[in-house]
Amino acid sequence: MRIVIAGGHGQIGLRLTQALIERGDAVVSLVRSASQILDVTDLGATVAMLDLEQDDAAEIAHALKDADAVVFAAGAGPGSTIARKDTVDRAGAVLLADACEIAGVRRYLLVSSMGVDSVRGGKTPDGADETFVAYLRAKAAAESDLVARDTLDLTILRPGRLTDETGTGKVTLAESVERGDVTRDDVAVTIGEILHVPGTEGKTLELIGGDVRIDDAVYRIANPS
Ligand SMILES: NC(=O)c1ccc[n+]([C@@H]2O[C@H](COP(=O)([O-])OP(=O)(O)OC[C@H]3O[C@@H](n4cnc5c(N)ncnc54)[C@H](OP(=O)(O)O)[C@@H]3O)[C@@H](O)[C@H]2O)c1
Repeated sequence: MRIVIAGGHGQIGLRLTQALIERGDAVVSLVRSASQILDVTDLGATVAMLDLEQDDAAEIAHALKDADAVVFAAGAGPGSTIARKDTVDRAGAVLLADACEIAGVRRYLLVSSMGVDSVRGGKTPDGADETFVAYLRAKAAAESDLVARDTLDLTILRPGRLTDETGTGKVTLAESVERGDVTRDDVAVTIGEILHVPGTEGKTLELIGGDVRIDDAVYRIANPS
């Protein structure tokens, strides 16, 4: 498969690049700084220099030529302003979908977040920090925009709190799971598996660490009994 990763130099993006290359996929990594290029080309990916807050959908669509799938793994990141939750976490995901429509790419995996349902309908979770609420609202709005499109074969993946521990290769993956942590390693491998297994389109899935092998967990989602 040829897979384009928005946020290709992010912590999940780099792990996902490695996981996909190991599977034999071709990866196009979208980065916005020249200093990041070698990190992704050393893994075997090709690079397109694009900024989701500066470039337009037509420019991004060029990088999506012949792609089988895109992954939105970008994010404004911790410490960023409320405004950038909107311009990256919401608008960046929407812009990538616009670019998919221009390029004719249907398969889209959105890395969202556990907790988005807690802000739907204007709700504010008790005691939540306002920047975190803005982040969840941006993710919720991105999900809603993408779900409404009939031009995408969409999977929404909502990981729990991300950690940098070494992956276990085992997860809990379901439409709804208890709150918990998951390693970035295991998120990356799960994304790779989802993209390769037919039947995962049209699903919104929550992901935390667990005791089911990632390939089995994805197979069960794609083949519910
Ligand atoms: N942290 C958590 O516990 C948690 C939980 C659930 C889901 N998530 C989500 O998981 C995803 C990946 O997380 P992560 O830890 O890998 O994030 P990360 O390391 O912060 O990576 C985010 C990536 O987005 C890129 N980016 C930011 N602004 C951009 C722009 N304008 N145009 C293009 N790229 C841009 C960054 O590039 P630069 O290096 O150039 O800034 C970086 O490569 C995010 O969507 C995050 O919201 C996080």
